[in-house]
Amino acid sequence: MDAQTQETQGPGITAAEAGLDLPTDIELIEKLGESKLSTVWKARHAGADVVVKAYSKRAESAWRKKLDKNIAVFEMLQNRAFRHQPDLVPYTAKPIRVIGQDGKYSLCFLQEYIDGVSLEDVARQEKGLPGAVIRTGETIARVCEEKKIPGVDQFMADVIVRRQGDNWVPVIHDFKHIPEEPRKKAAGSPLLARFGIGSRPGDATGFLKEWQKISRRYEVA
Ligand SMILES: Nc1ncnc2c1ncn2[C@@H]1O[C@H](COP(=O)(O)OP(=O)(O)OP(=O)(O)O)[C@@H](O)[C@H]1O
Ligand SMILES: [Mg+2]
Repeated sequence: MDAQTQETQGPGITAAEAGLDLPTDIELIEKLGESKLSTVWKARHAGADVVVKAYSKRAESAWRKKLDKNIAVFEMLQNRAFRHQPDLVPYTAKPIRVIGQDGKYSLCFLQEYIDGVSLEDVARQEKGLPGAVIRTGETIARVCEEKKIPGVDQFMADVIVRRQGDNWVPVIHDFKHIPEEPRKKAAGSPLLARFGIGSRPGDATGFLKEWQKISRRYEVA
């Protein structure tokens, strides 16, 4: 790109260049990710950093077929269900709004932008996951269990970890998962099993087990 073009285009990318039809008060900055289901953009909106989650036609029709729901509205409502739990607010990206469900714009969900890294990055940097991160995971699992919020293992599989002072705080951002029934255990509550009670001691299940695996990979003997 020559200097002339750069100047006229500014630092961002136009909605048309991104293949989207968006209200003019959303300024796309950069693409953060792309999958079969969605393309995620960092953007500026109303003076804040946000993400624009633009769904593929394939995802839109799959969610319609599976749930008879609009995928963007579904994701926003699931996001709100987490955000409505006072104990989960610090660990839940803030939902903003859905645009395009009326067909006037591309179908998108706007959400708070989380400035952070992956769990794997934290484990690498800290030589294992800090105890506080694991304890936060346990809190999230407990609240979801108590409030009967299903599908926590899917939601927690892909958190963004944000630095806050001296702490690392995991934040959930992908809410379009269709929660699966937890696998039935022969005995005991899923929460107790998650903490290894009722099975072998220390034998966490679900996402906490995955977190422990990630942590161990980087712990130094
Ligand atoms: N709120 C957010 N703040 C910052 N980055 C985000 C946010 N939401 C999503 N991302 C980035 O975009 C990527 C894809 O987002 P998301 O998980 O919503 O889409 P996806 O279609 O499920 O893609 P994937 O298969 O990569 O998970 C994430 O892995 C993350 O890097
Ligand atoms: Mg995802």
